[in-house]
Amino acid sequence: MSQDKLKQAVAQAAIDYIAPCLNRDSIVGVGTGSTANYFIDALSIIRHTFDAAVASSKVTAERLLGHGIPVVDLNSIGTIDFYIDGADESDYKLNLIKGGGGALTGEKIVASVAKTFICIADESKLVNTLGQFPLPVEVIPMARSYVARKIVALGGEPIYRQGVVTDNGNVIIDAHWMTIANPRQLEQDLNQVTGVVSNGLFAYRPANLLLLGTPAGIRQLTAS
Ligand code: 5RP
Repeated sequence: MSQDKLKQAVAQAAIDYIAPCLNRDSIVGVGTGSTANYFIDALSIIRHTFDAAVASSKVTAERLLGHGIPVVDLNSIGTIDFYIDGADESDYKLNLIKGGGGALTGEKIVASVAKTFICIADESKLVNTLGQFPLPVEVIPMARSYVARKIVALGGEPIYRQGVVTDNGNVIIDAHWMTIANPRQLEQDLNQVTGVVSNGLFAYRPANLLLLGTPAGIRQLTAS
């Protein structure tokens, strides 16, 4: 089974999971990336069962609107019942690395507001220890070199993601080869660096549920 088929299957599994809980007032938070795109496609089929969506990025907002799903500003609502998004890596505690698509800050904000964060991914994303995937860090442009030096001091190898400007007008530095023995500590340490807007570690706000697409079917994991 291809990775795309696994992503599609797990996106449908998320729909099956949330559908019985939705009502006409429900707001669904939607992530960014290819797995999230499959989710949006499937969400459009049950469009009549919820009120609207909150998008984690401009590209997601466009896709939602393209499917006829209303998109509301996060500032105009209270809580979000579910946030559904992919990940670049998840460990068994459901700490995540996200931001491969550069939308980490919007994703972290919407995930923080949501009562339940369901991460959807193909099985290749589950790892024992985070860090094989380079950790994205969103940075104010004028702080780029300074933050890169701080990443070196924290044990990483910073690579500037050339040509990428985030939805917030910032740049991305990918921190390669970080040792992530303590995801919370590193998330906090990176956030302390002046010029860092956010980083792709989701350890203070991990997923509540990980749905994993495998050739044998969908695996459900809660934090262990
Ligand atoms: C985007 C993300 C994505 O969720 C992550 O990169 C996974 O993407 P995909 O579903 O395409 O594998 O964090 O910023």
